[in-house]
Amino acid sequence: MPAVTKVCCIGAGYVGGPTCAVIALKCPHIKVTIVDLNQSRIDAWNSADYKLPIYEPGLEDVVRRARGRNLFFSTDIDGSIQEADLIFVSVNTPTKKSGVGAGFAADLNYVESATRRIAKVATSSKIVVEKSTVPCRTAESMRIILEANSSPNCRFDILSNPEFLAEGTAINDLFKPDRVLIGSLQTPEGIAASNALVEIYANWVPKERILSVGLWSSELSKLAANAMLAQRISSVNALSAICEATGANIDEVAHAVGYDSRIGPNFLRASVGFGGSCFQKDILNLVYLSESLHLPEVAEYWKQVVIMNEYQKRRFSKTVVDMLFNTITGKRIAVLGFAFKADTGDTRESPAITLVRDFLLEKAHVSIYDPQVEHAQIWSDLSEALPLVPLPNLQKQVHITSSALDCCKDAEAVVIATEWREFREIDWEAVYRGMNKPAFVFDGRLLVDAQKLRSIGFKVTVIGRGEQL
Ligand code: UDX
Ligand code: UDX
Ligand code: ADP
Repeated sequence: MPAVTKVCCIGAGYVGGPTCAVIALKCPHIKVTIVDLNQSRIDAWNSADYKLPIYEPGLEDVVRRARGRNLFFSTDIDGSIQEADLIFVSVNTPTKKSGVGAGFAADLNYVESATRRIAKVATSSKIVVEKSTVPCRTAESMRIILEANSSPNCRFDILSNPEFLAEGTAINDLFKPDRVLIGSLQTPEGIAASNALVEIYANWVPKERILSVGLWSSELSKLAANAMLAQRISSVNALSAICEATGANIDEVAHAVGYDSRIGPNFLRASVGFGGSCFQKDILNLVYLSESLHLPEVAEYWKQVVIMNEYQKRRFSKTVVDMLFNTITGKRIAVLGFAFKADTGDTRESPAITLVRDFLLEKAHVSIYDPQVEHAQIWSDLSEALPLVPLPNLQKQVHITSSALDCCKDAEAVVIATEWREFREIDWEAVYRGMNKPAFVFDGRLLVDAQKLRSIGFKVTVIGRGEQL
């Protein structure tokens, strides 16, 4: 199989954008075109002042170095498909909201329509790479669609190449991946296609970190990795509840447990709950898959990870109400952070959405500050979380500010929902002066120095700490 010289990426989102920008940077001999249906997204990627559609540390630098050289963003999907040797499919795969498998199964509509587009317009053979997170056997469906609809003399080889980047550290994860996983049919043609993709990554990733496996193992590994990562957080969060009830300290417990080399120290930070577009979706996919395979015990096992996460969020908002003398009606609650984690503007499945919803249902006034999330996004997330509350009513109850200090002004309580570094460094004395007393801080991210805040006068509650205010 000749070496790949032209790559097309369908979907210019959180996965396709950074991944293919890095491929372009590291492979100057390959022309990479990232296409999307969404004109304004493409315009943002092409903007002269590099106001890119997603916030990701280091991304702008990559785009500055490669854009116009061998990296292009376009809405000409058909033209880009036609000229490419290899096509990444990086479209969104949200959880289905209605129909069979609603609430669990992935909505593969976007994957299918991108696949059909490839079949319709391709005039030469292609390697088609499934990059979006998808349930097992999606590659097989893509293969059937492509083969049933292709023109003569077009051969399609399907690969699965799941993405393991985490938002906020995507560029570093792409520069130095723990591993690159490539799944293919174990036929001579499948292996040749896999080798062609290995050669692209080998431009910067050591070969021993590029793992070639069967198609279904690759698809399942992605779901498994995310499910096991999320399971660690639900495990540590379940322990945080025991800590609060007993007076133990989750930091100390996680530290001691993580010292066991079989367990390891990373990804054991208790929190108000995990968010992001992947964890919940992938576990629900795994649950749905297990149920469809008639493995109800397996499905139940993984479902508990999500149930525990919901419990953690609910438990935290209940703590806030309990501490504020069992009522927050009419009180102002300042929520610091709305993104699902620090260093991203992404709010998909953010625990902050659930917290704010709970506070609003208790008839509190909520002020919100996040350094990266667009205000329009916050309104849209809250409208979706509270479909029965008309936007004008919501806007009477919620106030979005452009600084942490403004957010906390006149509040009874500050709730830390995202671990942005700037929240550790704000002038807490000034925050205290501006608040109603007693002034409460609820740290859902183990972020602040509780002792220091107490010495200022705050009543501080930290997740996973049994100690008193
Ligand atoms: C995750 C996987 O890490 C990545 O490999 C996969 O490709 C996509 O899903 P992402 O969702 O971007 O990445 O971020 P991640 O850092 O994994 O955090 C997910 C959520 O877990 C966040 O809400 C984060 O705050 C939370 N988290 C993470 C914790 O609560 N505690 C931790 O110790 C780690
Ligand atoms: C365990 C803990 O490892 C040890 O730290 C603690 O002090 C006591 O409990 P032990 O029960 O002696 O030690 O053996 P361990 O190697 O942990 O194995 C426990 C069981 O898990 C065995 O049945 C083993 O076969 C099984 N196991 C272990 C697996 O099935 N798969 C694995 O990957 C590891
Ligand atoms: P992810 O986190 O998986 O990257 P995003 O929603 O950030 O998800 O990005 C997916 C992108 O894919 C969106 O910008 C969407 O417009 C684009 N997209 C979806 N379907 C198609 C399609 N058939 N052709 C081109 N782009 C598509």
